[in-house]
Amino acid sequence: MTQNPTEKQTPAWDNWWREGQEGGAQDPTLRDYWQRVLEQTLTRPVRMLDLACGAGAVTAIANSMRLPTGATLDCTCLDASADALAIVAQRLPGVHTLQASAASTGLGDASFDFIASQFGLEYAGTGAFAEAARLLAPGGQLVLIVHYREGAIDEESRTTCEAIAQTLELGVLDAFDALLQAALALRSGAGNAEAFTAADQTLAPRVQQFATLLKDRGPAVAGGSLAQLFNDLAGLYQSLESTDLTAAREGVERASRDLKAFAQRMQAMREVALSAEEVAQIIEALGIAGLEMAQPETLKLGGRPLPAAWILRGQRP
Ligand SMILES: C[S@@+](CC[C@H](N)C(=O)[O-])C[C@H]1O[C@@H](n2cnc3c(N)ncnc32)[C@H](O)[C@@H]1O
Repeated sequence: MTQNPTEKQTPAWDNWWREGQEGGAQDPTLRDYWQRVLEQTLTRPVRMLDLACGAGAVTAIANSMRLPTGATLDCTCLDASADALAIVAQRLPGVHTLQASAASTGLGDASFDFIASQFGLEYAGTGAFAEAARLLAPGGQLVLIVHYREGAIDEESRTTCEAIAQTLELGVLDAFDALLQAALALRSGAGNAEAFTAADQTLAPRVQQFATLLKDRGPAVAGGSLAQLFNDLAGLYQSLESTDLTAAREGVERASRDLKAFAQRMQAMREVALSAEEVAQIIEALGIAGLEMAQPETLKLGGRPLPAAWILRGQRP
């Protein structure tokens, strides 16, 4: 885990949220977990803080719950990404949003009764855990779900990074772009059929290799993004004559950019995942900051054998 906030990664996160991603609570196990925690927590007036909230996955669960008599909920969603917060503002009106690093929030001591984070705080470095402790009011509770090093998500991210790197190395996107350029030249009268055929012949073996890669790794690799890319390129190839070739070139360039950004994010996820030793250190630091910490638990997701996350739970007496 890094010592420093990951501000330099914010543009990648902005792109991710701008693409309309839904965030991490899609898994029913995660949703059930938060529902159980929130049922026990939202029994009184509660000021809740969702740290590194993304599109507000955890806050959305809290907001959807029927509160018992006497309970109220005042939510603040904090994230480094303005684009993530724009989604929160639109999706969860009434929730306060704050663009800041979780390591340095600028919020007052003891401002919150419940602090949650799902696959978020670890991106902000070790200082963010102490900052969360500072923000927790007496009687308040903290629940953090963080990436588990060498666990199920880590394993999936590694495979994704490898498959994307292999795809880019094949040069299939560059070869496809060269074909589009040759087709454009042909259409404008500046090119010739031989150049187009040469570009087509350069592309063909790369497409074959791409197909083999997908067959070996399975269509679900990299979240299905590579299989989607393959289908998109095949569709484009078949409709080359009627296609807006300039727009097609932009699409290929975008696809290449998106793949690189995806791999970068997966790599960042692997880097911030916490080992058992790091979790023990964080728990010790939170204890020194005055919290009573439970033993860390692990969470398995999607029926996978390896844990995907650590659950860190504590309260301020
Ligand atoms: C994997 S996403 C999780 C988002 C959300 N909690 C969820 O479960 O869907 C990680 C989030 O951490 C945010 N983030 C990264 N570095 C941060 C930092 N230093 N401070 C606050 N947020 C940060 C990113 O913008 C992103 O929204």
